[in-house]
Amino acid sequence: MIVTHSKNHLFRIICVFGMIMIMSNARTLNPTNQRIRATNLGGWLVTEGWMKPSLFDSIPNKDFLDGVGLQFKSKTIGKFLCAELGGGTIIVANRSSASGWETFHLWRMSATSFHMRVFNKQFLGLDSTGVNLVATTTNSQTSGVFEIIRKPDDTSLVRIKAPNGLYLQAKSEDLVTADSKGDGEWGDDDPSVFEMTIIETFKGEYQITRGYGPLRAPKIMKDHWDTFIVEDDFKFIATSGLNAVRIPVGWWTASDPTPPKPYVGGSLQYLDKAFLWARKYNLKVILDLHAAPGSQNGYEHSATRDGSIEWGQTDENIQETVRVIEFFTARYASNPSLYAVELINEPRASGVPLSVLTKYYDLGYKAVRKHAPNAFVILSNRLGGEPKELFPLASGMKNVVIDVHYYNLFSSVFDDMTVEENIEFVRTNRSAELQAITTSNGPLTFVGEWVSEWQVRGATKEDYQKFSKANLDVFGRATFGWAYWSLKNVNNHWSMDWMIKNGYINL
Ligand SMILES: *[C@@H]1O[C@H](CO)[C@@H](O)[C@H](O)[C@H]1NC(C)=O
Ligand SMILES: *[C@@H]1O[C@H](CO)[C@@H](O)[C@H](O)[C@H]1NC(C)=O
Repeated sequence: MIVTHSKNHLFRIICVFGMIMIMSNARTLNPTNQRIRATNLGGWLVTEGWMKPSLFDSIPNKDFLDGVGLQFKSKTIGKFLCAELGGGTIIVANRSSASGWETFHLWRMSATSFHMRVFNKQFLGLDSTGVNLVATTTNSQTSGVFEIIRKPDDTSLVRIKAPNGLYLQAKSEDLVTADSKGDGEWGDDDPSVFEMTIIETFKGEYQITRGYGPLRAPKIMKDHWDTFIVEDDFKFIATSGLNAVRIPVGWWTASDPTPPKPYVGGSLQYLDKAFLWARKYNLKVILDLHAAPGSQNGYEHSATRDGSIEWGQTDENIQETVRVIEFFTARYASNPSLYAVELINEPRASGVPLSVLTKYYDLGYKAVRKHAPNAFVILSNRLGGEPKELFPLASGMKNVVIDVHYYNLFSSVFDDMTVEENIEFVRTNRSAELQAITTSNGPLTFVGEWVSEWQVRGATKEDYQKFSKANLDVFGRATFGWAYWSLKNVNNHWSMDWMIKNGYINL
């Protein structure tokens, strides 16, 4: 009896011990029932035009927003305008095909006047003769303002008015000057006429606010913030089997109500509301710095002005970003819904060196820790970086998470894949990728963006259901969790709201 009792007692001690071990182990491993099952609230506080194109409908001269990439083919010569050497010298008209050096990106000064930026980031202007076209200055303000005049009945034909009030003309393959009156009949023999192609457009926060301008943009943005995501969405999320939201925010929201131009004030109130609603409906919030000053990836979703990546290039810029992180963390640290802070979204390896990112992550981590000792800190992998390159850094951090984004899109690998092949790719290749970064003593893993969309055309509802299930099965193994991109989108499959309500996703 005594023996049994003490054995029993010992057994219980071992059990309790074991449970403590399991519990503490479980805490670090984030047990399955606590894993994040989230939707992103994309396109709300950081504009993405493709998610709600109507937002851009009434911008005047809306083809010519900031960053639009234009190419110009001389009608008389039949060749493209080109910043020789990509910039730093003259403009020529001698290229029979066009790519980077032949592309000019607009900076919109008004609905009809622009600076024009070339490949190496100089701006188009006139040299000391006042007539010859060059791209030598890196200072937009001294470069001069251009206008683009479209032929009324054929908008692919244009004339370009230079800062001297005259029009560009391609006199020969290596002589482009601004000395045409530009008053001819748009004939094929008119050297001031160019055929324009729009090769790239951006529809982000920078474009919409600058496009509408300081008088109209505040109302347009407020109407969008008021209607795109509302309290009922949080209620729906909470009753759909999800437990969190990932909220993309832009750096300018941290200087509300008077953000730098062209951004407009007011967005911070909506982030405040999101935190209130999250608390009310018991949802966790992952605050995600989606747009950092200068743009960390050159995409519209990081509010790039013209596609270039200028984040992280100076200490000042990094310090500014750290202050943004600290501002948000301090503001919401006392709200129990603040679960994680993602320091920056999708920095691109081609523009952000690992050393720069590491330095920022280290400072950003400390800024979060000052106010939120236990919040998870999420480090987004670089686009085009090595999957485990952040592991050495993460090993010195606690409650740290690596974020990876998995789309069966944006790569020619998926071009000809069938339904079955897409599903197999998720079950085999994605699952292997995820497994490779999911380690027992390393950072937690988070599939912070995925979508049940692919390049397959004409797939049935059942196909989508199978694909959703495969994604959920595989991404459910991420030790931190996953987040769908996104809750609302005019493209149905990109809208988790629509996918759940229509039975394409079953949680
Ligand atoms: C275009 O013109 C420039 C200046 O004359 C010259 O250096 C360059 O080689 C030319 N390029 C082509 C493709 O003809
Ligand atoms: C997916 O993984 C399989 C098995 O490892 C491999 O044979 C295949 O090439 C991979 N597919 C792609 C598109 O990378």
